[in-house]
Amino acid sequence: MRTQVAIIGSGPSGLLLGQLLQNAGISNVIIERRSPDYVLSRIRAGVLEEGTVSLLHEAGVGKRMDHEGVVHTGVQIAFGGMSRRIDLGKYAEGKTVMVYGQTELTRDLMAARTAAASLTLYDVTDAAIHQPLTDHPYLTFSVNGIKERLDCDYIAGCDGFRGISRDAIPANIRHEYEKIYPFGWLGLLADTPPVSHEIVYGAHERGFSLCSMRSMTRSRYYVEVPLDAKVEDWSDDRFWDELKKRLPEPYSAEIITGPSLEKSIAGLRSFVVEPMQYGRLFLVGDAAHIVPPTGAKGLNLAASDVNYLYRILLKVYREGRIDLLEKYSPLCLDRIWKAERFSWWMTSMLHRMSDNYFDHRMQQAELDYFTGSEEGLRAIARNYVGLPYQDVG
Ligand code: APR
Ligand code: PHB
Repeated sequence: MRTQVAIIGSGPSGLLLGQLLQNAGISNVIIERRSPDYVLSRIRAGVLEEGTVSLLHEAGVGKRMDHEGVVHTGVQIAFGGMSRRIDLGKYAEGKTVMVYGQTELTRDLMAARTAAASLTLYDVTDAAIHQPLTDHPYLTFSVNGIKERLDCDYIAGCDGFRGISRDAIPANIRHEYEKIYPFGWLGLLADTPPVSHEIVYGAHERGFSLCSMRSMTRSRYYVEVPLDAKVEDWSDDRFWDELKKRLPEPYSAEIITGPSLEKSIAGLRSFVVEPMQYGRLFLVGDAAHIVPPTGAKGLNLAASDVNYLYRILLKVYREGRIDLLEKYSPLCLDRIWKAERFSWWMTSMLHRMSDNYFDHRMQQAELDYFTGSEEGLRAIARNYVGLPYQDVG
């Protein structure tokens, strides 16, 4: 088999890159180790920056999102028994965010790929990257027990945090930066109306909480739990009681509870690998970086990597601009480190980081300062809606 761009992984990164390339007439094949159903069963965040939304439109997959997604012009931070609103429109030059679940987005991208008759090979095993430093890189893998070889011009490693692409960069050139946080998020999905029409991030001495949604009839809530917490120990009743204790009035009184559709615990991590290019191999999305979910940057960072790689490959194929290939990693990393900073900062400001009372007062002062001053609100709003993309040159 031969294609122009071989893509490993059919998460949002691989699917979006594949769709943009396909529309531009650049052939690509995706290999994925799971089944389509498994890929669609993963429940993740759903806050899209405007840059992500326009890229999805450019890829031709914005129709259902425009119809079913909800534009949010503000976000709230609750602490000290009150809730303060960050007016995104006012403090981020009219920009907003769109709430649309990642599962739905993945579904739309998969449907578009099927409609375009682009090839995705599911349930592949033993994927391996070969000769990324030469002009003739290729992948090998097995499907249904048969060994295959896929020759290509470029390889996009869109295979998430636990993929194989990152390790294809030799250890002596690869630098990994990591921070693991001493707590996790217990998430609950329920078919109940969300407590607020806006997302509410809550800081409380009992721990962080988050009120989010998938639609006006489906809520997504989270509470911070210790790293060793077990989902079996958290009945729905215990979850709702804890959430109410952490929320201020009127939310604590007004919240509508119901049976959980899904409940799971995820750890929090910050991670970046440098560089993101090794010859003709490019790392994209979670394969190269992880952010803690406070700030909802994971999917948006994946989209901004896709944006850069797509625009660079377009110029490479159309104008012969191979000089741009080495700009991929620095362009991505500039934006990634800033989103890492924002996600880490929001996490540190809103969670119970230590039992030290001085630290606790520092958090309160920080929250009060940033949500109570024009410059603070601007800093949160501009980062929340997403920093601008640069031109690839
Ligand atoms: N061979 C083939 N496919 C693989 C391999 C492999 N060796 N390893 C991993 N994959 C697949 C996974 O099964 C998964 O479907 O790569 C895909 C990676 O998808 P994601 O983990 O969703 O990563 P990405 O597409 O970069 O999406 C980033 O997902 O985790 C969230 O916060 C993150 O929202 C962000 C988005
Ligand atoms: C979610 O809706 O799952 C969600 C929203 C905002 C976040 C994280 C997760 O910061």
